Amino acid sequence: MYEKIFLKKEKLKNSPHPWFFSGALTKSYDNLGIGAIVDLYYKEKFISRGYYNNKTSIAYRVLTYNENEEINKEFFIQKLKKSQELIKKVVNSSKTNAYRLVFGENSYLPGLIIDRYDDYFVIQLHTAGMENLKSVIKDAIVELFSPKAIINKSNIQARKIEGLKPYEEVLYGEISNSKIIKENNILFEIDFENSQKTGTFLDQRENRLIVQKYFKNGKLLNMFGYNGGFNLYLKDCENCKSINLDVSEKALLQYQKNLKLNKMNEENHSFLKADIFKMVADNYQFEDKFDAIVLDPPALAKNVKNKKRAVSQYINLNKFALRNLKSGGLLFSASCTSVVKQEDYEFAIYQAALRENCQISILEKRFNSTDHPMNPFFPEGIYLKFYVIYKY
Ligand SMILES: C[S@@+](CC[C@H](N)C(=O)[O-])C[C@H]1O[C@@H](n2cnc3c(N)ncnc32)[C@H](O)[C@@H]1O
Repeated sequence: MYEKIFLKKEKLKNSPHPWFFSGALTKSYDNLGIGAIVDLYYKEKFISRGYYNNKTSIAYRVLTYNENEEINKEFFIQKLKKSQELIKKVVNSSKTNAYRLVFGENSYLPGLIIDRYDDYFVIQLHTAGMENLKSVIKDAIVELFSPKAIINKSNIQARKIEGLKPYEEVLYGEISNSKIIKENNILFEIDFENSQKTGTFLDQRENRLIVQKYFKNGKLLNMFGYNGGFNLYLKDCENCKSINLDVSEKALLQYQKNLKLNKMNEENHSFLKADIFKMVADNYQFEDKFDAIVLDPPALAKNVKNKKRAVSQYINLNKFALRNLKSGGLLFSASCTSVVKQEDYEFAIYQAALRENCQISILEKRFNSTDHPMNPFFPEGIYLKFYVIYKY
């Protein structure tokens, strides 16, 4: 038996949005520990089971609509089995052994990320509810996958809203210094301790194939390139050269290791350490223009209050890219800011082209890789946009 919390107004049973704000509840349930598993009721009627936190405006998140389903190891085992079935449909395991297994609300497990790096699993617990369930989540992963290690990289600032501290730990097993994984047969060394995100940016995997498909000849600039994912996909292109441009020394060191791992020539695939926002502000211009540019900045706004500023930064970044792109070149332009919607990003691209006085056509509009599924009832989860643009 779980404690009950009550809705002020009746919502449709199976109302599919996973969040309920504190104002939707009859009161603040201050006697419940943060992240407690509770049953949501309207009067006598069971609505759903989930977890509650009186410290946050998103007070309750749904885990199940089934009154008979207990939230325990078995619950997670069943969820993980379903996620693994999805993965079988979207990932070719003979070429790729790193992918997102659980994507929070998008996988109907609010606040939980599980990324798989071969026999290493990395989890992130974004909420108090998931933090409380850490041990059953670990047991479920161990039972189903017999991993070498589970790393908890809950070093995310967003936890503070939940009354939790960011932290990292090895939750299970032992880790070696680094792990080599393959993504479409391209090798990446993952240094979990020094990495951004859970290890690498798995969400761009399918877009990297798109760059590989379109770009066959010339020089590519990878702006905000991290460990060089987009550069590495040029491995088999004899006529391709590239530069990885990023501000992070650790990321660029990792890139150099990745080049060696993939037996790529460091003269053809170089790097540049620089602050791109400063280059943009300084109107920096490369000596030679590029045949292709990948633009994939970090998220530029956390909430709608900062959206206008983010759109203006996107205009400047795209303008910079178009200016340094040859006529006949390709711009692969991405935004991972979830509050900047598709139409906002398109506005930024069009404004950039107008202000740069050049003509462009959009060849493809894409999203994140399919192991990062989108929950149609959770628009907040749609974040990555990726455009293939031709410059006349
Ligand atoms: C979204 S990630 C890029 C992911 C990469 N495109 C990939 O596919 O793996 C953003 C990158 O921007 C870099 N970055 C952040 N601020 C920067 C700045 N001011 N100048 C250059 N790079 C920056 C980060 O180090 C990070 O590698």
